[in-house]
Amino acid sequence: MKFKNIWTSVIIFYTIIILLCACGKQQQDTPDKLYLGITCYNQSDTFINQLVTCLKDKLSQFENDNFEVTMTIRDAAGSQRTQDDQVQELINAGCNILCVNLVDRADPSEIINLAKENNVPIIFFNREPVAEDMMRWEMLYYVGADAKQSGIMQGELALSAIQANKNIDRNKDGKIQYAVLEGEPGHQDAIIRTENAVDTLKNNGIELEKLCCGIANWNRAQAQNRMMHIISQHQNNIELVLANNDDMALGAIDAYKKLNYTESALPVFFGIDGTDVGLNAVKDLELAGTVYNDKEGQAAAIAKLAVEIISKKEITNKYTYLPYSKVTSDNVNDFLNKDK
Ligand code: BGC
Ligand code: CA
Repeated sequence: MKFKNIWTSVIIFYTIIILLCACGKQQQDTPDKLYLGITCYNQSDTFINQLVTCLKDKLSQFENDNFEVTMTIRDAAGSQRTQDDQVQELINAGCNILCVNLVDRADPSEIINLAKENNVPIIFFNREPVAEDMMRWEMLYYVGADAKQSGIMQGELALSAIQANKNIDRNKDGKIQYAVLEGEPGHQDAIIRTENAVDTLKNNGIELEKLCCGIANWNRAQAQNRMMHIISQHQNNIELVLANNDDMALGAIDAYKKLNYTESALPVFFGIDGTDVGLNAVKDLELAGTVYNDKEGQAAAIAKLAVEIISKKEITNKYTYLPYSKVTSDNVNDFLNKDK
């Protein structure tokens, strides 16, 4: 009996030693340094610029005495070729995770090949690669938001405004004459947002008449130009402007200001994003509403995912989508004070 006890103790002792060694080895495998290489499609994009600022902040929160975080940020300034070169440069510089905001979301092949050859995982964000490309390697992830939800919410905001204020139908013909300002063709957030905003209004019994749709590539100055043109064609007849993002809604407002339109002749404007300028325009009652694109949530998700990948945690979701929220002058202060 005594003999058996000794053997049991010896076995337990060795099991513990083996387990301790295994833990030690795992710790050795886990780098205590995260070196993130970030490349953006265009850093002059208002939303992307704010998202990257949030990302820097969220990443620095993971830094401590045992875990070093470094990041390098590159601006592809609208060129996929430049972005491909930047990815090579970031890998050469020793980045162990890449965060890629693709220029051309349909053309990530070169980047995926480089990452795979060098075994550097990629977190794509905001500009979603197609599913087929995402399946090309298990170390590809995406963080973003659901375009359909933002379109539905923009439609709901416009619906409430139209129901609450009969004067939006300025010519009293029972229909809402509207114009659309759309983001880049081919971007997952452009057509889907427009379609869902318009369908939401129609499905809720609002009669619509589409006057015009202009592409302004997410850009305020381009939207102002497009809107000047639309106004020259339709003068006082535009009652509603649906813009795929805040910058384009603000560009439309700029156009009316430039033409010195009086307030009573203005349409109602709706955006998406809740950028700082967008939220302030809601507060000033220039924008009737916007849909909050949760940059803090997306940045936090990217940072957490990067740390988990480096720590070799098991990750079950390749995709993370953060929810949108509706913003009007009633709740805008909650968003203006976010994270402050
Ligand atoms: C945002 C836009 C931004 C675009 C860039 C969209 O999700 O709403 O403001 O310009 O992403 O890819
Ligand atoms: Ca009307």
